[in-house]
Amino acid sequence: MPWDGFAPSTRDVKSGALPAVYTDTAKFKEGQDRLRNEITRLVAISESGDEDAVKAQILAVNKVCNGCHETFREKQ
Ligand code: HEC
Repeated sequence: MPWDGFAPSTRDVKSGALPAVYTDTAKFKEGQDRLRNEITRLVAISESGDEDAVKAQILAVNKVCNGCHETFREKQ
C-alpha cells in the first residue's frame, strides 16, 4: 500500500524520493518485491520460534531497506 504514494503525480512534491523513483521504475518495483519476499520469510521464520534465525532474517529485511534507500532516497 505505501508504494501508491510514489505515483508519477507526486513527482514534484518535496520529499526524500530521488528522481530515479520515477525513471528507474523497474528497479524500484524490484526493491518492493524483494522487501515483500523477505518479510514473508520473516513471518514464516518467526512462527518457527528459532530466535537466531529470526534475528538473521531481520537483518536480511534491513538490508533490503538500506539497499533501496541507497539508490532511491536522498541522503539524510
Ligand atoms: C523499494 C524501495 C524502498 C524500500 C524497499 C524501503 N524504502 Fe524506505 N524509503 C524509500 C524512499 C524512496 C523514501 C523517501 C520517501 C520520501 O521522502 O517521501 C523512503 C523513506 C523512508 C523513511 C522516511 C519517511 C519520511 O516520511 O521521511 C523511513 C523511516 C523508511 N523509508 C523506512 C524504511 C524501512 C524500515 C524499510 C524496510 C522495512 C524501507 N524503508 C524500505 C524507498 C524504500
